[in-house]
Amino acid sequence: MSPMPTDAMPTDATPTPPQPPTAPRRAELATIPALLRLLPFVRPALPRLIAGLFSALGASLAALAIPRVLQVIVDGPLAEGARTGDTGALWGAVALVLGLGLAEAGLILARRTLVMLPANRVEADLRMTLFRHLQDLPIAFHDRWSGGQLLSRSMSDLGLLRRFLVFGQIQLVVSCVTVVVGIGLLAATTGWLGLVYLAGAVPVSVIAFRFARRYRVVSRRAQDQAGDLATTVEESVHGIRVLKAFGRGRDALASFTGQAERLRTTELAKARSQATVNVALTAIPELTLAACLVLGALMVHQGTLTIGALTAFFATVAVMSAPVVDLGMTLSMTLNARTAVDRYFDVLTTTNPLTDPVDPVDPPEPHGHVRLRDVTFRYDDATRPVLDRVDLDLPAGTTTALVGLTGSGKSTLAMLIPRLYDVTGGAVELDGVDVRRLRRTDVRRTVAVAFEDPTLFSASVRDNVLLGVDDTLPGARKDELLAEALDVAQAQFTGHLPHGVDTRIGEEGLSLSGGQRQRLALARAIAARPRVLVLDDPLSALDVATEERVTARLREVLHDTTTLVIAHRPSTVALADRVAVLQDGRITAVGTHTELLATDPHYRYVISSLEDDAAEHGIGTVPDPDPVPVLPPDGGGPDELGTDATGARL
Ligand SMILES: Nc1ncnc2c1ncn2[C@@H]1O[C@H](COP(=O)(O)OP(=O)(O)O)[C@@H](O)[C@H]1O
Ligand SMILES: [Mg+2]
Repeated sequence: MSPMPTDAMPTDATPTPPQPPTAPRRAELATIPALLRLLPFVRPALPRLIAGLFSALGASLAALAIPRVLQVIVDGPLAEGARTGDTGALWGAVALVLGLGLAEAGLILARRTLVMLPANRVEADLRMTLFRHLQDLPIAFHDRWSGGQLLSRSMSDLGLLRRFLVFGQIQLVVSCVTVVVGIGLLAATTGWLGLVYLAGAVPVSVIAFRFARRYRVVSRRAQDQAGDLATTVEESVHGIRVLKAFGRGRDALASFTGQAERLRTTELAKARSQATVNVALTAIPELTLAACLVLGALMVHQGTLTIGALTAFFATVAVMSAPVVDLGMTLSMTLNARTAVDRYFDVLTTTNPLTDPVDPVDPPEPHGHVRLRDVTFRYDDATRPVLDRVDLDLPAGTTTALVGLTGSGKSTLAMLIPRLYDVTGGAVELDGVDVRRLRRTDVRRTVAVAFEDPTLFSASVRDNVLLGVDDTLPGARKDELLAEALDVAQAQFTGHLPHGVDTRIGEEGLSLSGGQRQRLALARAIAARPRVLVLDDPLSALDVATEERVTARLREVLHDTTTLVIAHRPSTVALADRVAVLQDGRITAVGTHTELLATDPHYRYVISSLEDDAAEHGIGTVPDPDPVPVLPPDGGGPDELGTDATGARL
């Protein structure tokens, strides 16, 4: 996805501070303020979450009330009944305990039902917001961030947050309240005994605090490493053909294993620190309890404590033991959620420097006149500009070929026209208006691009081609646009696909050859009916004959469209009205093909190297190695066979 390795981060001169996934972060928030950043998303669900919290609190108070009833039973009706044989009062007390138990169960159920749905809603909202933001962020952002990091942030981190919302946050509050109220009750009703038990809470809190500090660091590391691992999986699945063809599967496996091993080490460290805290949180209360048992027995013996009070003491401790033991888990869940919030907002707070202007200019009557004035462009992480004071005029309705050696900045220039990047100096103008003064939707409606590397989505041919077409157009008009675009792009092969234009293609669907994919990407740009069409070498995988047919049809259909074509073949260049030569980041010559051949030595050099390139790869002579036979057995017309690329470009 990204042409740059993920660890090659931009220099500090970038407009937005780079946020490498594993680099030290900015000023740290404490855990609670960090979690409170979720508030805007949680707000709609707040009433139900609070109701859920109260249900859970009610359940825990009901549980804490049971020992008090027990105390009364033991000291009152039970002792009385033992003496007099009258069990009447006992039954009433038993019914009360039963009632409290049922109330507790009912409240726990209420908590689950109240909280589950809104938490799922919040998770979906968070995910949608992130996705919308990712769509909005400029390409420069996606150059820096790996797919795996974004994937893990939008999937596993948000899953952690949902679990925290459903369970963790309520459990955290309830555990704390149960423990505090429980200890308070113990101290109030059993005096010294309660205070001894309370003393056990001191080492527990110290341990929990130290655990939290350590755990937060490993939790962040684990989640970042999981993201890097996802990137590796994504890249190797994407590049599986290359890896297999070069027999590099073993190396990919080795690097994957290394990363997985690092993640495992971090997860182990996480588990170890959680285990240590769990041992402490279980052992310390048990030890305190043993001490309390001895002390309690002594107090009963001395007559300072009733048997009922001692029973109540142990019953209360039993109610409190689950929250105390769970505290370790709840704490780690909270810290994982906090890390997830940090990682989520790392992306969400990345501002987009490429925004709509505050007071956008309404686009003038579109003619499609493009003008690059003194344009300089430097990539965020580069030291030298790729384009240096480029002046280029593309009069409305003309076709200009852009020619230059590989790496001279042709693709970069092409991306500046639809404002996929912002210029670092000078301006790109559409019909006399700086593109930065127009709404982005207006710019993108005027300019369509076909890239050399065609991206198809897992959808039908129709949906892929009509991607840039106004959704509100009537179906018949869309069919017309589709048919015409496929015809111009010489993509008639789609008619022979198993379900015609409704065949599913892309990652999950039918595989297409490089040339077929390019023709669909080209059809997509044509179907959008733009005033300005930028073709970044979109015909490179086609053979000469098909490319010439495409170019001729393009000129016919798009006679009033301003076209900038980055061409790969001298034959295509020759068809353009004018040719611009890009050399060392500057436009060094503009003229017709014949003029430039006669006057410009660099142009002659570039053209002859393109010719050599074409000859070397025998373009147009070798049949297209289609990965999947897409033709029906009875043949789909001879012109479809062997019209594609030759694998000249790997
Ligand atoms: N996203 C990017 N970040 C940094 N440098 C880039 C990026 N994309 C391209 N470059 C660099 O910019 C230069 C021009 O690239 P490009 O416009 O793709 O050339 P061309 O299309 O003419 O082959 C190259 O040196 C390339 O390494
Ligand atoms: Mg290029």
